[in-house]
Amino acid sequence: MDSFVFQNATKIIFGKDTEKLVGSELKKEGAKNILLIYGGGSIKKSGLFGRVEASLKENGIGFTELGGVVPNPRIGLVREGSKLCREKNIDFILAVGGGSVIDSAKAISFGACYDGDPWDFFSGKAEPGENRIPLATILTIPAAGSEASDSCVITNEELNIKTHFASPLMRPVFSIMNPELTFSLPPYQTACGCMDIMAHVMERYFTKTSHVELADRLCESVLKTVIHNLPIVLKEPENYDARAEIMWAGTIAHNDLIGMGRSHCWFNHALEHQISGYYDIPHGAGLAITFPAWMKHLSSKPECQRRLCQFATNVWGVEYNYDNPLDTIMQGIERLYSFEKACGLPVSLNEVSIGSEKFELMADNLTGGGKHPAWGFYPLEKSDIIEILKLASK
Ligand code: NZQ
Ligand code: ZN
Repeated sequence: MDSFVFQNATKIIFGKDTEKLVGSELKKEGAKNILLIYGGGSIKKSGLFGRVEASLKENGIGFTELGGVVPNPRIGLVREGSKLCREKNIDFILAVGGGSVIDSAKAISFGACYDGDPWDFFSGKAEPGENRIPLATILTIPAAGSEASDSCVITNEELNIKTHFASPLMRPVFSIMNPELTFSLPPYQTACGCMDIMAHVMERYFTKTSHVELADRLCESVLKTVIHNLPIVLKEPENYDARAEIMWAGTIAHNDLIGMGRSHCWFNHALEHQISGYYDIPHGAGLAITFPAWMKHLSSKPECQRRLCQFATNVWGVEYNYDNPLDTIMQGIERLYSFEKACGLPVSLNEVSIGSEKFELMADNLTGGGKHPAWGFYPLEKSDIIEILKLASK
């Protein structure tokens, strides 16, 4: 096990009706004049906006609204929000929504305290310092894990680049999580969210570090919890307990706990950010397509086989074939495919109308034009990445 520091300061307030506590929690933090940021309107349709507004008013907290965050959120709105915070002397940001809303809020929280263009943090031109406006969230979709993570992902619509920056100061001060708020999620969005949760675990699970038994078992538990509960909520969208299991799994998957003491991979996220950066598909859908193809590509590499076997046996319940470990691996990958299909997720690029025209470009972007491999669980050259994209097209 590698040495590590674990620190996650986000306070989680979990359970029924917890959104009604938002005003009093903000008051405890000294917030007086907040930016309330949300997406395309689901929070107004569901009545959540009204409850949040009432709680803010009850606690004497003024707010400025910024709606219109889109999935795969754009830098344009981050620029607008940063300016708005300065004009209105905003002292706290409340994000109500999913990963896209929370990530926009995180970028705005730093952008508002910076004289230049907020994109500078993403391009590496500026380092995020200590200056930022604190933020809190009310989560409405379990998926990105942004409610307790230290990073945000934004798309630059002019450059077609989707990328992230991170800072420990970006973690929300508190996140309110009421599983009832997720009852209104459409099945496809629910499944995409769960795929993202599973991907966050798998990026940590596929490690080169040995003797990480506890973290392995934590990872396997989170995966099995999602695999068990996703089919339940697809049939019964208002099953509170199953929604609650998924919601908590989404936070645990990405709040750092299960990834301590080990190397991570993140190749599939890097590849998926290329795909959704160019084609604007849901992040979870992209991950459903890349992961099995990536595993297939690695299945013949001796260095990867032990862990792929562990994934097949411990996560998917495949019986270990001592005479033919590759068969064990392929059965595990097959079960992942079948699960994704049964949950309504795409398993190939063709299904989301993506052709091969940008394969070369995406592989170049991930390997510095072919000069170095993409690092992770196994180093992948440009030709490997093109091969994975071809496998992902079948
Ligand atoms: O915009 P509204 O109207 O709210 O609708 C949203 C949106 O259309 C809808 N939705 C959310 N909650 C709902 C609901 N519809 C009905 N009922 C509800 N309760 O769902 C759609 C998707 O929302 P979005 O926020 O885009 O989803 P998600 O949470 O999956 O976030 C995806 C973004 O997070 C990034 C992804 O790359 C992507 O841009 N990620 C952020 C990470 C982080 N900050 O740590 C890590 C992740 O790996 C990921 O990359
Ligand atoms: Zn993700």
